[in-house]
Amino acid sequence: MSMQEICRVAQQTRLGEGLYETVLEAPQIAAAAQCGQFVHIACGEGNLLRRPISICRAAADKLTVVYQVKGEGTRWLSARREGDTLDVLGPLGHGFDMAALGAKPVLIGGGIGVPPMLQTAVCAAQTGAQPRAVLGFRNQGAVILEEAFRAVCETFVTTNDGSYARHGFVTDVLKEQLADATGVAACGPKPMLRAIAALAREAGVPCQVSMEERMGCGIGACLVCACELKLKDGQQGVRYGHVCKDGPVFDAEEVVW
Ligand SMILES: Cc1cc2nc3c(=O)[nH]c(=O)nc-3n(C[C@H](O)[C@H](O)[C@H](O)COP(=O)(O)OP(=O)(O)OC[C@H]3O[C@@H](n4cnc5c(N)ncnc54)[C@H](O)[C@@H]3O)c2cc1C
Ligand code: FES
Repeated sequence: MSMQEICRVAQQTRLGEGLYETVLEAPQIAAAAQCGQFVHIACGEGNLLRRPISICRAAADKLTVVYQVKGEGTRWLSARREGDTLDVLGPLGHGFDMAALGAKPVLIGGGIGVPPMLQTAVCAAQTGAQPRAVLGFRNQGAVILEEAFRAVCETFVTTNDGSYARHGFVTDVLKEQLADATGVAACGPKPMLRAIAALAREAGVPCQVSMEERMGCGIGACLVCACELKLKDGQQGVRYGHVCKDGPVFDAEEVVW
């Protein structure tokens, strides 16, 4: 169940160039949040714009979001300070199916797709699973949340340019980790998700992906976030889903890549 909550900013931290972490006092949303879900935050004076941001952590009465400044909305959000209030709608969407990921899931985040995988790792560990995290970044300056992941599970980091940790892509690590994996969950750019889905399919490992689309309402009432999905039972043709309501997490086999 989603709700609208006026949340006090408890902490605002700059994590790197254009990268921010905001901790919100959001007791109701935090209590209801499941991994892979997102919140829709009203950004801007007069609360005209809402922006979808993934839940990075939900613990006790606090909700943490981590985001990159892209435009007007996220710039406004990054300028909030401790004690300011935000109008937040959430938790929204359909998150990761933890049971389907099994006892040894491999959790993959690419760039600003890394934050929701932290809550997913925490949830997996809490249910007795042994998650492994694979985090991919453009370069050293883009690396976020590494220590937070290491506190929860075994963590592998890659950078595209080799400026930090392992030189290469998350798929290089995934190939080595798939042998005993019971499930794969991923969030990041579409080409990365496509490559991950193909590897998982080849290995016969179930895979869930978190997709991104621009959003309007965030609750399934407009068509802004429509995405193409395969028809059920292998039938030819496509159907349309709402990323905000039917996703953002989908079974990789459902997605029209
Ligand atoms: C379910 C979901 C979860 C998300 N979680 C996070 C997160 O945890 N951290 C994070 O940093 N970002 C996340 N995003 C992306 C974030 O919503 C956009 O970056 C943000 O809405 C941009 O708003 P803006 O007003 O700052 O920029 P705008 O001025 O609206 O746009 C600036 C640029 O960003 C691009 N953009 C805007 N919205 C999106 C979008 N939804 N997807 C891709 N590109 C977009 C635009 O095309 C434009 O080039 C998520 C998006 C979705 C759909
Ligand atoms: S954003 Fe309106 S239906 Fe998804």
